[in-house]
Amino acid sequence: MFSKAFVSLLAVVSVVNAAPRRRADCGNGHAAADQRCCVWFDVLDDINGPDGLFDGAQCGEEAHESIRLTFHDAIGFSPALTSQGKFGGGGADGSIMKFLGTDTDETTFPASIGMDEIVGEQKPIALRHNVSFGDFIQFAGAVAATNCGGGPRLQFLAGRSNDSQVSPPDLVPLPEDSVDKILARMGDAGFSPEEVVDLLASHTVAAQDKPFDSTPSTFDAQFFVETLLKGTLFPGDGSNTGEAQSPIPGEFRLASDGLLARDSRTACEWQSFVNDQQLMLTKFTAAMAKMAVLGFDPSTLVDCSEAESNVAVLPAGFTLDDIETSCSSTPFPSLATTPGPIGSVAPV
Ligand SMILES: *[C@@H]1O[C@H](CO)[C@@H](O)[C@H](O)[C@H]1NC(C)=O
Ligand SMILES: *[C@@H]1O[C@H](CO)[C@@H](O)[C@H](O)[C@H]1NC(C)=O
Repeated sequence: MFSKAFVSLLAVVSVVNAAPRRRADCGNGHAAADQRCCVWFDVLDDINGPDGLFDGAQCGEEAHESIRLTFHDAIGFSPALTSQGKFGGGGADGSIMKFLGTDTDETTFPASIGMDEIVGEQKPIALRHNVSFGDFIQFAGAVAATNCGGGPRLQFLAGRSNDSQVSPPDLVPLPEDSVDKILARMGDAGFSPEEVVDLLASHTVAAQDKPFDSTPSTFDAQFFVETLLKGTLFPGDGSNTGEAQSPIPGEFRLASDGLLARDSRTACEWQSFVNDQQLMLTKFTAAMAKMAVLGFDPSTLVDCSEAESNVAVLPAGFTLDDIETSCSSTPFPSLATTPGPIGSVAPV
């Protein structure tokens, strides 16, 4: 049995050796499996830079809003409208960015009021790097998720067309919508009730001026616990449309979150994440991968997930040349260098 396994391992090794992976040199110390992914390292360095969109890879308001934007762009997709012979929207096509400030601006849709700010911050960056708006929105959201403590590395596929038409109105669910209405709308876009809950894991790092859970910078399961606590108060100036009472001073609860947490179609999926953060991350990652390509054929896109974040970094003052590589079969991965001179490691 041992020798059989050993023989098949050798077979695998020789196949790998026969076709060595050649990585494209992207410059700036980055390399990618596909040349078309190189631009995304530049975008990453830009948005996670100290003066970039995310203020040095923080999980702050821009990160929260960038994750939210991935949904508001992509969910403009309705096979039901298409089957009635109408335009059903282009999904994750960047139309919310393309039409910003025009008389068909999607950020004037009731569900997307206030999103003009994050779209306005992102748009010049997309233009600067000459990447399509749809790609940029999904990439920024994926980077934002990794910037949050414990956040997943989402799949990022690049190559969405930059051409888009404005989305039909009323496709983004509202917080004051009934569960029936939300599940019907999401079902039209292809999501099961469970997948609606999976997508809502994003609310663990969400805020509407006030955070949705007590740990808004951490990708943990607190959101799923705290939405199940009895609501007793409105933080701030009392009840607003789409707002439900929350259990903790300063915490904001969307009415739809309170209802979905308690509906028989979604409650068990909701509860399943409470003490299984890994399950939550796995399901969130799968649902986001589906959402990020709404309106596109994924087989026409190229996987550039590796450009989304660098798991590890080179400490300040070091370059890839300083690494004593010892694995001959696989090139050492490209890593960013922490800015600044060589420092000393602080005692703990
Ligand atoms: C920007 O991208 C478009 C579409 O991919 C391409 O046609 C154009 O040449 C690019 N412009 C520059 C300045 O690289
Ligand atoms: C995307 O479209 C906008 C116009 O809406 C244009 O300004 C921009 O250069 C385009 N980007 C690419 C990559 O083609």
